[in-house]
Amino acid sequence: MSPHAHITGWGMSMPEKILTNADISKLVDTNDEWILSRTGIRERRIANDHQTTASLATEAAAKALRVANLRPDDLDLIIVATSSPEHIFPATACLVQDCIGAWKAGAFDLSAACTGFIYALNLGAQAIRSGSLENALIIGSETLSRLINWKDRGTCILFGDGAGAFVLQASDEPGGVLSAVMRSDGSGGDLLSIPAGGSRIPTSVESINRGLHYIHMNGREVFRFATRVMAQATEEAVTAAQLSMKDVELIIPHQANQRIIEAAARGLSFPMDRVMVNLDRYGNTSTASIPVATCEAFEQGRIKPGDHIVFVGFGGGLTWGSAVAQWTGPFPTRRRVRQRRYRRLARLRSLFMRLIRVIEGFIWGRG
Ligand code: ACO
Repeated sequence: MSPHAHITGWGMSMPEKILTNADISKLVDTNDEWILSRTGIRERRIANDHQTTASLATEAAAKALRVANLRPDDLDLIIVATSSPEHIFPATACLVQDCIGAWKAGAFDLSAACTGFIYALNLGAQAIRSGSLENALIIGSETLSRLINWKDRGTCILFGDGAGAFVLQASDEPGGVLSAVMRSDGSGGDLLSIPAGGSRIPTSVESINRGLHYIHMNGREVFRFATRVMAQATEEAVTAAQLSMKDVELIIPHQANQRIIEAAARGLSFPMDRVMVNLDRYGNTSTASIPVATCEAFEQGRIKPGDHIVFVGFGGGLTWGSAVAQWTGPFPTRRRVRQRRYRRLARLRSLFMRLIRVIEGFIWGRG
């Protein structure tokens, strides 16, 4: 019998700096009333100069490991879903692997825009179910504020920075991630994109002058697409889990727009008081929005062990997807893992590896 993939740890990391709608109205021609009524967003968090996609991811990961009471070297796999990676390569996941000291883990980034966390959750769970690994860390992390054109009122009002993480662990006990659907439609790729900076339009003075390194979006079309797919994907995942909507205690949707979330709930005839919404305080944090909303739902006492939770999202690509999980929480253990000690060890190990490389380069004449 194949093992089940349980969610046993969760954590989030949000920058302290708050940017309100009133602050944005000093940058572009907009106002609090317009933003709030069209999106539901009041404020968002913005990374400071020292915070990056990897550093936010690392903080969220450390918290998730603490909840799961897992050592970093227990991890077999790290997936970072992100739309704002630190580099094209190396993967942000590898930087996180180094920072937390997960020296036995494979690590890679996953690019599926805001749906990335659902994809990562499914892939992490499938890897565990296959029996090839036991413990996976999946993270959604963003510093989209660095990819936004702060003169474009159609996009700069929407996005925020932050990170959230889950630990997935194998167990023979039934539960955990029960089903998932992943969908895409590349014919709509141009509706939401960062056109330059890849191999098709390499960064150049011209690409920068034309603002092609910023997020470009056709808001109306993305809105229409999102309202169409959210309810549909939820129903598909719930059916695949052999459940009905009556069995679902909480839906945790991608936090893009209050009107999109309400339309999805209406389409499912599902009460809004069982839908988690926190976009008023964080805006759209892309891949981070679902794990961050999950952490807050848990803190608010809205998730209990045994509950059936639906995660559902959409984003650039176009991509969309949904997953159903039965909530588990940390596995019982007597072991006490001192996370701080492991962080210090990780730093030492990283320095040591770099030093070894310098010495090797010196010995072999490549220094
Ligand atoms: N302030 C004031 N007026 C504005 C603003 C603004 N910030 N932005 C646009 N307007 C104006 C427009 O210029 C337009 O004026 P016009 O009628 O004179 O031309 C008017 O408001 C209406 O514009 P719309 O684009 O039709 O506004 P809409 O109600 O569609 O709301 C919004 C725009 C909020 C962007 C909405 O379309 C939306 O949320 N779309 C989905 C976006 C989304 O979720 N993207 C993330 C996807 S996830 C990922 O992968 C990253």
